[in-house]
Amino acid sequence: MKKLEDYVVSIPDFPEEGIIFRDVTSILEDAKALHMAIDQLQEKIEDIDFDIVIGPESRGFIFGMPVAYNLNKAFVPVRKKGKLPCETASMTYELEYGVAEIEIHKRSIKPGDRVVIVDDLMATGGTIEAIIKLIEGLGGTVVKCVFLMELMGLNGRQKLEGYEVESIIQYP
Ligand code: PRP
Ligand code: ADE
Repeated sequence: MKKLEDYVVSIPDFPEEGIIFRDVTSILEDAKALHMAIDQLQEKIEDIDFDIVIGPESRGFIFGMPVAYNLNKAFVPVRKKGKLPCETASMTYELEYGVAEIEIHKRSIKPGDRVVIVDDLMATGGTIEAIIKLIEGLGGTVVKCVFLMELMGLNGRQKLEGYEVESIIQYP
């Protein structure tokens, strides 16, 4: 039987020379792989006590939302700068390729909220570190971070020491 990792297409030198891009659209376009991805992410958090799934724009929306829906939790999007209409908290961070700024609606996280972050991939960990700062700045607690894929060589976990982090597929 095909495993989830068998569905991921790897593209060398995208979006820049030297980057191997791990493309999740190849999972989404296969109904069986899509089910496996959502089910396996869900299994990693279904026994945890939490209130909210956070998904970073844009691939985190695709995987975070179905998990939140299935587990009867709220979903809160973290968006790239300038997209959210109400009062936001924001954070600048570095990616494997480039710099970005993300935002969250301040009203979405209340003191004491227990939050799980779901995303397709962890590379440098910069995105997740920025999101953790945003959530904690608003009084929430990050109880777990789950990813479909993790690029181990970029040492994202070093930025997340003290947090519970799990991934389904690990690349060197
Ligand atoms: C990608 C990916 C993660 C992030 C990981 O998103 O979906 O969110 O990069 O990188 P990091 O661990 O180095 O922070 P990207 O910002 O490229 O946006 P996209 O989902 O809209 O393509
Ligand atoms: N986001 C950051 N690095 C990435 C990579 N190598 N493949 C896919 N998405 C990414």
